[in-house]
Amino acid sequence: MRKVLWEQHFPHALPPWNERSATRAGPIRENRVVTDYLRDLFSLDGRVAVVTGGSSGIGRAIARALAGAGARVVLVARGADALAETAGRLRAAGSEAAWVTADLGDRASLEDGARQAAAQFGEPDILVNCAGINLRPPMSALTVAEWDQTIAVNLTAPFLLGQRFGPPMAERGWGRIINVASQQAVRAFGNSGGYGASKGGLASLTRSQSEAWAPRGVRVNAISPGFVITPLTREAASDPARSAALAARTMIGRNGEAGDFEGIAVFLASRASDYVTGQLIFVDGGFSAT
Ligand SMILES: NC(=O)c1ccc[n+]([C@@H]2O[C@H](COP(=O)([O-])OP(=O)(O)OC[C@H]3O[C@@H](n4cnc5c(N)ncnc54)[C@H](OP(=O)(O)O)[C@@H]3O)[C@@H](O)[C@H]2O)c1
Repeated sequence: MRKVLWEQHFPHALPPWNERSATRAGPIRENRVVTDYLRDLFSLDGRVAVVTGGSSGIGRAIARALAGAGARVVLVARGADALAETAGRLRAAGSEAAWVTADLGDRASLEDGARQAAAQFGEPDILVNCAGINLRPPMSALTVAEWDQTIAVNLTAPFLLGQRFGPPMAERGWGRIINVASQQAVRAFGNSGGYGASKGGLASLTRSQSEAWAPRGVRVNAISPGFVITPLTREAASDPARSAALAARTMIGRNGEAGDFEGIAVFLASRASDYVTGQLIFVDGGFSAT
């Protein structure tokens, strides 16, 4: 009965699971239909992406993914050595990559960085706001200077870069903005302090940017990572008991790795996500669902 219904409703559907499994068990063969279909759906050929924080951790993995899907990528951060090293690796893999130094916590430097970023391969079609800092003093010890710095890098910079690149995307009728938030956008966690507030603001900014530009082809979404082992979390990750306790809070049973963000980045940057906007998408091994 189920088979009849399936064939009635999906006459061109893929073969049933047992046949596909048999194919999988055999030698890998090129399937032109699948390859062309996936390329059309996910390709970033001809697109230009600016990735802040693209020299390290999650941003670096996102830059690699976007470049691998065909985008020309401009990396933005403060440290020239890590930027040059990352761009060099992307170029060695056959991609087009450039880098620009900017302190996104400083408005003049941000403006100059944005101008330089657009000068590399032209105006970006894709903006990834991934640069971030997490200062972790307990709330009662958090200084105004730490608060200001956190808000400047984690929230004001994505706002300013959105103001710079969002309207031209809307004018051209196509664009993607991906903001990297945190589960601390929706829950207090480990001295969330100013960091949680900045990420809560970023999730809200994502909805506002989407509301403003989605009608003209720009999709704006945020990614919420769980606990991901990167230089940002080096201290917490170096404590095996703490690291294991965090892994145990996920459904998958391990902490995140930078490479876990490649798939979501290509999805959100590509045509595949045409009807997805204004969302905060959790990529956390199920942490937030427990
Ligand atoms: N790792 C996690 O568990 C986790 C969880 C939730 C959310 N996140 C978010 O994910 C994003 C990436 O984090 P990550 O773990 O990949 O951290 P990371 O490895 O420390 O990378 C941070 C990146 O941001 C850049 N950056 C920092 N301050 C900057 C500034 N003032 N101006 C320009 N660039 C700056 C850094 O380069 P320079 O230092 O050279 O400038 C680096 O490229 C952040 O927004 C973070 O809040 C991470």
